[in-house]
Amino acid sequence: KFKVKQILYDIHRDAANYFHANLINSDSGRHALEYLLKRGLDEAIIKKFGLGYSFPGWDEMKSHLKSKGYSEELLEKAGLIIRGKAGSSFYDRFRDRIMFPITDVMGRVIGFGGRILREANFQPKYLNSPDTVIYNKRQNLYGLNSAKTESNKKGIIIVEGYMDVIALHQKGFTNAVASLGTSLTTEQAKLVKRYTEEVYIAYDSDTAGRSATLRGLDILNEAGLNVKVIEFPKGLDPDDFIRKNGREGFLERINNALPLMDYKIKIFKEGIDLSSPVEKGKYASKIIPHLLKLRNQVEKEGYIRKISNLLGVSEEALRGEIEKYSKKIV
Ligand code: GTP
Ligand code: MN
Ligand code: MN
Ligand code: MN
Ligand code: MN
Repeated sequence: KFKVKQILYDIHRDAANYFHANLINSDSGRHALEYLLKRGLDEAIIKKFGLGYSFPGWDEMKSHLKSKGYSEELLEKAGLIIRGKAGSSFYDRFRDRIMFPITDVMGRVIGFGGRILREANFQPKYLNSPDTVIYNKRQNLYGLNSAKTESNKKGIIIVEGYMDVIALHQKGFTNAVASLGTSLTTEQAKLVKRYTEEVYIAYDSDTAGRSATLRGLDILNEAGLNVKVIEFPKGLDPDDFIRKNGREGFLERINNALPLMDYKIKIFKEGIDLSSPVEKGKYASKIIPHLLKLRNQVEKEGYIRKISNLLGVSEEALRGEIEKYSKKIV
């Protein structure tokens, strides 16, 4: 078992070097490099993250790695080739894509993400390696290997995607990691907790990003982390935002990040008319379960005051409702 793992690490290292050379040193990878440069990346950051390109052919990577002595059986175990339907021939999983090597905290390549160059309806924008003996997507965070050294004092910024991590690192926010689309897991929260107590969620400002933020907040909070939310104008993700507003703009967003409860108080207000007593009641029943999750009693007191002020009702009224809910829950 141990030996197989070691070979899978070797395969991934060789594959990453191959994809990187395709991007940097080949005529047929020129358009891929231009795509990345046009998106604002420079050569240094492309090197730092080991970005690459997979050629359009069906088995170019397979041929290259076989010539280095790896069997198809092992390449399939690595998740890099797929068995064709009809017969026994294998083809490359990643074709004509920008390649993002995924590393573990020791810096070993354990998987890949691949982005198409031009978005099309019939193809997924990103393809990712499947889980393998060395890669478990629920237990890994993209970029953590680079982020971990600085995370202790600055905290960790969690974003959705590869390009968000890379754009932030390029602008000096080297404490950014990505949960890679999948909603954040408890394993990932525990991983973060190994390096810091302070964590920011900076997901895309769209419907999917918002519900992922709400789920992520609770998961991180339950892991014992102090969580804040960084918000962007509607439709933007961290990569879009920092390209428009630069390092200074992003710093300002960090400084205005909302603590978990303040974020919930704010977003639950949307679509609710707080001048109506009926809707005040609805708002209270929506926010109270979240208030009850706060472990720190002093903090809870502070927010009870804040919410009763917001609603323009007495603290006693709010406490009365909280009482009912806590009895229902326990
Ligand atoms: P760019 O368009 O390159 O800026 O990517 P993005 O990261 O902004 O994309 P998006 O916000 O749509 O998705 C965020 C992350 O979710 C990506 O970085 C991927 O990790 C993942 N993701 C996006 N699209 C897909 C997909 O079609 N399939 C899979 N498996 N993952 C995806
Ligand atoms: Mn092409
Ligand atoms: Mn999105
Ligand atoms: Mn995005
Ligand atoms: Mn993006």
